[in-house]
Amino acid sequence: MSFTLPDLPYSYDALAPYMSRETLEYHHDKHHLAYVNNGNNLLKGTEWEGKSLEEIVKGSYGKNAGLFNNAGQHYNHLHFWNWLKPNGGGAIPGELEKKIVEDLGSVEKFKEDFVQAGVTQFGSGWAWLAVKDGKLVIDKTPNGESPLVKGATPILGVDVWEHSYYIDYRNRRPDYLKAFVDNLVNWEYVAQLYSKAV
Ligand SMILES: [Fe+2]
Repeated sequence: MSFTLPDLPYSYDALAPYMSRETLEYHHDKHHLAYVNNGNNLLKGTEWEGKSLEEIVKGSYGKNAGLFNNAGQHYNHLHFWNWLKPNGGGAIPGELEKKIVEDLGSVEKFKEDFVQAGVTQFGSGWAWLAVKDGKLVIDKTPNGESPLVKGATPILGVDVWEHSYYIDYRNRRPDYLKAFVDNLVNWEYVAQLYSKAV
């Protein structure tokens, strides 16, 4: 199975003013496409050809850096487009909200800690909400890594590579992260992944 780039699940203008058409055109059409194309080239002739994307990401981690970086970023971005929606960031579905309060203190505390994880990820990477051993945890990873390679299941991630925010926010990564949690998160998709994970 080779990697393919899906269309965005909304129009390029749908996330403005929090994420512009220009950002989405570069981020989806150029950056994500490059991971797809490079990943396909690097996958050819390896032991992971024909495996599922998750198997490729987990299997190539620590063994084939080139393939891992591109497959990992393909996995992360496939979800990332679905973690965003127009008029997002509203109410969290009940079961998931209850679990956030139980494991992470409160919704406000979760937002604070999630933003802080993104702010303190030095250089390129991601901040995460993941399920590990039945509990919700906040994490951050460099480059194309994700909780998947640490035996956890990511249910929400935010891209803190500069290509994700520099056009709209320049160096103001904290402002981008705040807009992400307050106005962009597609909580229905997060809740779906949570149900599958537990
Ligand atoms: Fe990205």
